[in-house]
Amino acid sequence: MTDVTRHLDGRTLILLSNREPYEHLAGTEGIHVRQPPGGLVSALDPTMRRTSGTWVAWGSGSADRETADEVGRLGVPPFEPAYTLRRVWLDESDIAGYYLGFANSALWPLCHLLIQHFEFHREHWECYQHINARFAKAVYEESLRVTGTPQVWVQDYHFALVPAELRRFAPDIFIHHFWHIPFPPPDMLRLLPPGVSEALLRGLLGNDLLEFHTERHCHNFLNCVREFLPDAQVRGESRRVAVDGRSVSLGAFPISIDVDAFERIALTEESDARASALRQRYARGGRALGVSVDRIDYTKGIPERLRALDRLWHESPELRGRFTMIVVATPSRTELVPYQTLEADVLAAVREINERYGTDEWEPIVLIHENVHAELLAAIYRAADLCLVSSLQDGMNLVAKEFVASQVDEHGVLVLSRFTGAAEGIDEAVLINPFNVGEFTDGIRAALEMPASERQRRMRAMRTQLHRSTIFDWLESILARCAELMDGNCVEPDVERRRPPVAVADGAEPNAALDPTDRPQWRDAHL
Ligand code: ADP
Ligand code: F6P
Repeated sequence: MTDVTRHLDGRTLILLSNREPYEHLAGTEGIHVRQPPGGLVSALDPTMRRTSGTWVAWGSGSADRETADEVGRLGVPPFEPAYTLRRVWLDESDIAGYYLGFANSALWPLCHLLIQHFEFHREHWECYQHINARFAKAVYEESLRVTGTPQVWVQDYHFALVPAELRRFAPDIFIHHFWHIPFPPPDMLRLLPPGVSEALLRGLLGNDLLEFHTERHCHNFLNCVREFLPDAQVRGESRRVAVDGRSVSLGAFPISIDVDAFERIALTEESDARASALRQRYARGGRALGVSVDRIDYTKGIPERLRALDRLWHESPELRGRFTMIVVATPSRTELVPYQTLEADVLAAVREINERYGTDEWEPIVLIHENVHAELLAAIYRAADLCLVSSLQDGMNLVAKEFVASQVDEHGVLVLSRFTGAAEGIDEAVLINPFNVGEFTDGIRAALEMPASERQRRMRAMRTQLHRSTIFDWLESILARCAELMDGNCVEPDVERRRPPVAVADGAEPNAALDPTDRPQWRDAHL
């Protein structure tokens, strides 16, 4: 097993993300804990378990305060603490402005090139700046508390301003940043008012290393810097930017999953029994079972997928009763109108398809409209003959990799959108364009008609490929690159990285007097 921590060389990781890895919710039967759905948490929790350290994130659960100490800290995973979670509290207006507002109504659609959903409000942008400064301060506090030299790892588009802000008062700290979604070309950034794109890029250039999923996203970032920051020097070939007397490196690091863990769960007796029951119910006698798994998000191409399925059952009546789709679709960002509209549209489209083609004995689409636990998910992936991933744009798409990892019987076909990062690293999928309903339908049909030997050949090849690039390989390559940069390879001879510290944002000095013996506590032993 790869020892991912060796490149840390005694340093302690402080990870920052908006979404927390464990959320406590108050229910009628007491407090329960859950892992919020999403690629970021799925990928980073297994890595943090191996590296320990501290994860700083928004405490979004209704029972989060009761389950943390007075500063917001607790040990996680709750039943087997391996690292510290430091929760940061946001009020309603913070969430509306920073998370729902600038991050998810401006940056998210803009980065996914789906600008019909783009909305900019000056007060959202101001809130985003303010909250980024608050999180930078929380990270700084944690950096003073941990033993060992801290290494800060920022995640995603929620915190574009944190690196530069943190560097203002911790100039020597090593900061790197993984951008989980696509990075757009300059034309997209032009939708933001003057000064905003520049501020975002300067914020990101506070990093020592910027990590994207693909070379294309690195290239887009460099083009944006060329276009918006004339004082920065872009060295495209070495993928570096020199700015403000510092050098910032860039790299493509395609994210992955804990392949062994998915495989293990898919192979348990429980999954075996569940998968057999699913096949008995939906796929006996040469019938076929398909699956899709997503948050209900307009980037995932769910209506496009439903249109392709509709067309398939329309054009190929012989498939009615012989091909069933399990659609796992969990509500997401439900406070936002485009997400509410999408959810209503998806539910209506599923109902219509089921009414149009369904019979007393057969329901074409089985909708699971909720968060599904890992064991059930693995069993569904294992049982399925095909998995449909139809993102209109996606940084990586981990569902594609989860399906491959769980296909221990090697009979399933992955039908995958060309517009996912996964399509650039998985060779034997059936690639489709989700905007082209005809091509999408043909792709599903091709998967259904594919001979068993060909399915097995493709799945085996994908599984071999996936085993060579797991989440731990991803983590190791990032940490190795950080170590190289820290060893001095990043500092160009004419560039001085260190700058004098200045006071923390909002005039508040960070709390240097945090008690290092104040260990995190787990208070809810009965959970
Ligand atoms: P994103 O990060 O945009 O949500 P990804 O495909 O990269 O997209 O990751 C989604 C993650 O969320 C996967 O790990 C997937 O298993 C999980 N997920 C999505 N929908 C559900 C659901 N209904 N129940 C449980 N997990 C889900
Ligand atoms: O992977 C992209 C991402 O935005 C993550 O940052 C996030 O955790 C996930 O999708 C789910 O979205 P949210 O955290 O807004 O529910």
